[in-house]
Amino acid sequence: MKVNEDHLRDSHRSRMFVTTRMLSRRQSPAEAAPAVIIAFPATYPGGARLTPYALSVRSARVPRQTGRRRRAPAKAMPPNRKTLLTNLVVAVAIGLIFAIDLNTPLGLAVPFLYLLLALLAIAVEAPKRTLLAIAILGPLLAGLKVLINPEDGVAWLGHANRIIFSLLIWVAVGLEWGRRLLEVARREHSLDLEHQVREQTAAWRSANHTLELEVAERQAAEATIIDYTQRLQALTRQLVEVRDAERKALAAELHDRIGQNLSALNMSLNLNLALLATQLPPAAMTATRARIGDALTLVEQTTEVIRGVMEELHPALLEQYGLATALRWHGEEFAGRTGIGFHCQAGERFPRLATQVETTLFRIVQEALINVAKHARATAVTVSLARLPSGVELKVSDDGRGIAQEQLNRPAAGSGWGLTIMAERARMIGGEMRIERGNQGTTVAVTIPDDSPEVA
Ligand SMILES: Nc1ncnc2c1ncn2[C@@H]1O[C@H](COP(=O)(O)OP(=O)(O)OP(=O)(O)O)[C@@H](O)[C@H]1O
Ligand SMILES: [Mg+2]
Repeated sequence: MKVNEDHLRDSHRSRMFVTTRMLSRRQSPAEAAPAVIIAFPATYPGGARLTPYALSVRSARVPRQTGRRRRAPAKAMPPNRKTLLTNLVVAVAIGLIFAIDLNTPLGLAVPFLYLLLALLAIAVEAPKRTLLAIAILGPLLAGLKVLINPEDGVAWLGHANRIIFSLLIWVAVGLEWGRRLLEVARREHSLDLEHQVREQTAAWRSANHTLELEVAERQAAEATIIDYTQRLQALTRQLVEVRDAERKALAAELHDRIGQNLSALNMSLNLNLALLATQLPPAAMTATRARIGDALTLVEQTTEVIRGVMEELHPALLEQYGLATALRWHGEEFAGRTGIGFHCQAGERFPRLATQVETTLFRIVQEALINVAKHARATAVTVSLARLPSGVELKVSDDGRGIAQEQLNRPAAGSGWGLTIMAERARMIGGEMRIERGNQGTTVAVTIPDDSPEVA
């Protein structure tokens, strides 16, 4: 603890002063109790330099024991024996001082000896009762000497001396008393704090444990979700592949069997018509020609329908003329079938893309248009194909009632597979699909980056 010298210098005229210092706010209330400094400054006339002839400094703070400094008392004396010894020494000392006092004519320095004894008792941490005994006996015996030998020395000087030192003994003992009380309070507070810290630590530990358990549970749940997501993706991919293979096979069947049979039927009908024309009379031939003509028209219509279905299943147009043309053709078919207006925003000269990208985008548009017809209640749909600096963007926007919010949040949780398959198709070629719900209608947007490894 630092003693503020200016403070001491300013106060050097006073016989005694007490200064207090509050410790920093971080200390506990007991630690922050006033630390007491008792100083007895010399009253030099010039006051140039302060030389306290008695300075007792007590800090209410318990000295911090570092690991290195801490030293277990080698052979500490038991407390009772120490007290006994201290009391004995104090009793002998008091007796001695009194004896000296009785045999000294003036005895000016004798009361100072009582004070010295009190300070020494404080220094050796004598028990409170011992201090109290010194505080009572010292002044008492000093007064007794005056009663026994009233004629010794200059009476008033001896009396004043005795009274001043008696008071000083009381001040010293009183301050030490206060310091000890503060010390006890500090220790209690410290124990209380330790208890609180222990409780708090236990609570934190338990909370930490609960948190760890929750984190572990969450991690397990996340791992399960990732696992299921991966399985779902693998299944969807298989579904896409199976669908494409089935479509291809169905298109081949239609072409090889039904398409060829229809061609054969057409040829046969034409042959029969030519044959009948040579054998039947002209009057009968007119009716026969009309009937066979109807049959031929039906065969041609069926052939057209089959060709349309085949185109849908395996778009030859896509392979020959590219995505923009195939989309336009498909859109017109769609508009004719459903009555929903179709607009295509893709230039005639839209560059050709990798076969896999064109097929994927075409299939996505097919599925999106089916959804528009099934769910949107739209009057028009627009398909746009744009070349961005980073890749290709396809959008299918309708002006219908808009997709439901829950379908946006959990696209795979709906009844169908269309959206999931569309998203998986886009992912299979390194792209991604978004579904947006605008003020009116729904937009399905697919972006395929140029550097997609599937496309390169
Ligand atoms: N353009 C759209 N407008 C409004 N709602 C849509 C649109 N597209 C999809 N939806 C909604 O999203 C749901 C999921 O569509 P998805 O294509 O995945 O399944 P589906 O069409 O019901 O069945 P599937 O495609 O398997 O035959 C639909 O049931 C529909 O409610
Ligand atoms: Mg669908």
